[in-house]
Amino acid sequence: MRAVRKESKEQAEGEPDAPGSFDRMIHRPVMTREVLEGLDVRPDAWYVDATLGQGGHTRAILGAGGCVVAIDRDPRAIEKAREELLPAYKDRLKLMCMNHSQMGEYLVGIGVPVSGVILDSGWSMAQAPEDASGLSFEGEGPLDMRMDPTIRTTARDILERSSAEELASILSNYGDEPLSMGIARAIVQARMRGRLPQTPRDLAAFVSGVYYRKGYRRSRRHPATRTFMALRIAVNGEIESLVQGISGVRPVLVPGGRLVVLTFHSREDREIKHLFRHWVREGWGRLLQSKPVLPGEAEICENPRSRSAKLRVYIAT
Ligand SMILES: C[S@@+](CC[C@H](N)C(=O)[O-])C[C@H]1O[C@@H](n2cnc3c(N)ncnc32)[C@H](O)[C@@H]1O
Repeated sequence: MRAVRKESKEQAEGEPDAPGSFDRMIHRPVMTREVLEGLDVRPDAWYVDATLGQGGHTRAILGAGGCVVAIDRDPRAIEKAREELLPAYKDRLKLMCMNHSQMGEYLVGIGVPVSGVILDSGWSMAQAPEDASGLSFEGEGPLDMRMDPTIRTTARDILERSSAEELASILSNYGDEPLSMGIARAIVQARMRGRLPQTPRDLAAFVSGVYYRKGYRRSRRHPATRTFMALRIAVNGEIESLVQGISGVRPVLVPGGRLVVLTFHSREDREIKHLFRHWVREGWGRLLQSKPVLPGEAEICENPRSRSAKLRVYIAT
């Protein structure tokens, strides 16, 4: 696999793209060649795609002769694969709509020997429930940010209920937001005056105002990018699902089985790095490479969303 390319902090996080419909959405799978190499796909062995999405990685594994258990929390992803992939790959594809945080137990239950798992973290804005997302800086709807309507807490709930310290911790831990405490204090003060931002557009303008007052004038991206990302991660429990899912699936891997994780922001990558290193110290496996693999320049040019991707591979012994 290619040597690791250094990237600047500025490039490290994704920005929201435009919301749209799941069916019309075109998703280019990220680092497909590296994912196949990382999984070391062999004909007729079983692999788990823990984030089916538009099926890019699943198609690639099937194309290389592997068999796939494809999981997604979004029923539309499962339905699309049922229509487009299942007829051609009946014997080599199983589809399951579930949170991958529970995939370890599920895989034990179906008794499949797992030779590898790919988890391509995150969501696409196109998946956000139409008007409920609250993920666009221009949004005029409620501050919701739930990617799954069964989740109880909305972004608005977090802004209404959290102390300044709790808010700052969310912004800093999940968004690496440098002005976390300044933004958190401003939100709590606005709340006390009954002037909490009501819509995504309000919140984006509010955070821009904090940046402006602190003397920041220009940025390559919207000042609210990190705040929105941190709130979305908190609302959807993304880090917890990732860690729980990856931890639960490790004992299910066959000897030599591989876990390939693609992350798109620093907090997720840190979690995976520490988890993998802990397992290596315990003597349960080894890393394919100590540093994460990054996409090449050609892929970044072709698919700018890949620029913040980091891929790590763990091999069970
Ligand atoms: C970035 S997309 C995956 C794209 C896919 N690899 C492809 O090539 O088309 C991430 C997918 O993971 C799903 N997802 C996010 N969190 C999940 C979770 N906790 N459990 C199951 N699926 C999840 C989302 O619904 C989304 O479809």
